[in-house]
Amino acid sequence: MKYLDMAADLAELGRGRTNPNPMVGAVVVKNHVVVGKGYHEKAGSPHAEVNALKDAGPKARGATLFVTLEPCCFQGRTPPCTEAIIEAAIGEVVVGITDPNPEVSGEGIRILRDAGISVNVVGFRKIARQNEAYFKYMREKKPFTTLKIATSLDGKIAEAKGVKTRLSGDKAEVEVHKLRNEYQAIMVGVGTVLVDDPVLSCRLTGKGIRQPTRIIVDSRGRLPIDSRIVETSPMSNVILATTDKMTKKKIEAMEKSGVEVVVCRQNDKGKVDIEDLYEHLGKREITSLLVEGGSRLNEELISNNMIDKLIILLAPMIIGGKKGVPIVAGKEAFWQTFEISSHRYFDNDLVIEMYPKKTNESRVRGEARQAIPGV
Ligand SMILES: NC(=O)c1ccc[n+]([C@@H]2O[C@H](COP(=O)([O-])OP(=O)(O)OC[C@H]3O[C@@H](n4cnc5c(N)ncnc54)[C@H](OP(=O)(O)O)[C@@H]3O)[C@@H](O)[C@H]2O)c1
Repeated sequence: MKYLDMAADLAELGRGRTNPNPMVGAVVVKNHVVVGKGYHEKAGSPHAEVNALKDAGPKARGATLFVTLEPCCFQGRTPPCTEAIIEAAIGEVVVGITDPNPEVSGEGIRILRDAGISVNVVGFRKIARQNEAYFKYMREKKPFTTLKIATSLDGKIAEAKGVKTRLSGDKAEVEVHKLRNEYQAIMVGVGTVLVDDPVLSCRLTGKGIRQPTRIIVDSRGRLPIDSRIVETSPMSNVILATTDKMTKKKIEAMEKSGVEVVVCRQNDKGKVDIEDLYEHLGKREITSLLVEGGSRLNEELISNNMIDKLIILLAPMIIGGKKGVPIVAGKEAFWQTFEISSHRYFDNDLVIEMYPKKTNESRVRGEARQAIPGV
């Protein structure tokens, strides 16, 4: 796995820049020496294999190409990589994982084998995790959705309704901005805008920093026209996801201010139907979405299995009192369990990444707890 690990590290350099394409890295090895390296830098630019072959030049002849994802075999914005590999007279290809894209899926491997090149598919699961947004998007044509919540130890995301509350320290905040730089879009509920008046921009500086599309779910059109998010619409797209409860007059005013209004179906509570919104975002090739609360939107998404990943920024503090805004609103218990995949400390904050368990185990646990007297 040494060379595939190296290729995966190269792929990582494209994080947040390749959508809707995957992150891919490639290494050309001859007689145990790396003679070429490449990665896919951004959508529309040459693919990893082409960059690695170019780097290797004539040394590619008879060499082994290690590539994290199955080479593409169709003409998109760039020519098929299978052609470049065959032309470079590569002797063997080691593929990390097959491409879930139906236009490729196994076909890239078949073309190479038909050309007499030996192809070994390793089934490297790390690559699927690295490209989790791409894999989900290819399967469902909807954005991979990560919910990020900053919380106190007593499960509060704000001191009280209407009170702007900062919970995370400076270093954890930098992580949030890294996420904003990586995800294509950020989404919040209108309740959060009314309290915090956020800009939802990426405040990192340096070369290649990109501002995400900002989405507000707001079924009645309560988003203030003089909010900072509306005022900064020239900086990066603002999408107001609403329903037909929003008046035409309000829609026109928003559009005049540079906000794009998307009228979605109403869900059974009369709010924006998030599945409908996801479909809309999928059609626009938004493959990754970072949700930043608040309490009602969190409840809607978690209780309806509409998140793929959860990132908790745990601030070691207890707020106390009865007025705090909980991580999730709502009266009914719904039990969702998660599997922790990693944790990191940022000064005095703990950032925990986890994935929802897709089985109904959470419910089973809930029932089991109720069944044991005294537990
Ligand atoms: N610590 C953190 O990580 C963090 C992050 C964000 C926010 N917050 C805090 O959370 C608080 C705001 O939370 P909140 O619950 O009042 O507001 P929210 O979740 O931000 O927004 C909820 C509102 O969004 C609208 N909405 C439209 N479609 C929806 C849907 N399908 N599901 C849910 N909501 C939908 C609804 O208003 P309409 O009925 O008018 O459409 C709803 O009342 C603030 O205090 C803020 O500071 C904390």
